[in-house]
Amino acid sequence: MESTKILMVCLGNICRSPLAQGILNSKITSNTFVDSAGTAAYHVGNPPDPRSTEIAKQKGIDISQYRARKFTKEDFTKFDQIFVMDQSNFEDVIRLAETKAEHDKVSLILPFEQEVPDPYYGGKEGFEYCYSLLDKACDQIIEKMKL
Ligand code: 4NP
Repeated sequence: MESTKILMVCLGNICRSPLAQGILNSKITSNTFVDSAGTAAYHVGNPPDPRSTEIAKQKGIDISQYRARKFTKEDFTKFDQIFVMDQSNFEDVIRLAETKAEHDKVSLILPFEQEVPDPYYGGKEGFEYCYSLLDKACDQIIEKMKL
C-alpha cells in the first residue's frame, strides 16, 4: 500500500516541527512517512535545539538524529498533508503554493486557528507547553486521518 506522507513545518525546523515529527512517528504503527522542514534557512543541517531533544527524550522519543532543512516547493508534490505551527508559517508556505490542490494540503496543526507558539527565545517551560500541544495535536491527526 502507498504510504501517507505528512510534513511538519515551523520557522527554523529545530524546535517545534522536529518535536511534532518525533511525537507523530512514536504514535503511529501504520504505513506513514513523517518528515519536517523550516520556512527559514538559518539552521539548515543542524540537529534539533537541545531543549526539544531533551523534552522528547524525557518522553522516550529520540529526535537527536534529525537535521534541519528548508521547506521547498517540491514538498507540495512529495507530501499529502502539510501541518504548520503558526499563522506566519502558514503564510510563508502558502506563498509557494501554485494550485488549489497544493493550497488545500496546508493547515495549522492545531484546530480553531490556534498556534503552537515559537519557544526559541523563551525558557524550558515553553518547550514543555509545545510538547503538550503537539502531543494532543498528533492524537487528533491520527484519529482524523485514520493512521
Ligand atoms: P522553530 O523555532 O521555528 O520552532 O524551529 C525557531 C528556531 C530558530 C529561530 C526561530 C524560531 N531563529 O530565529 O533562529
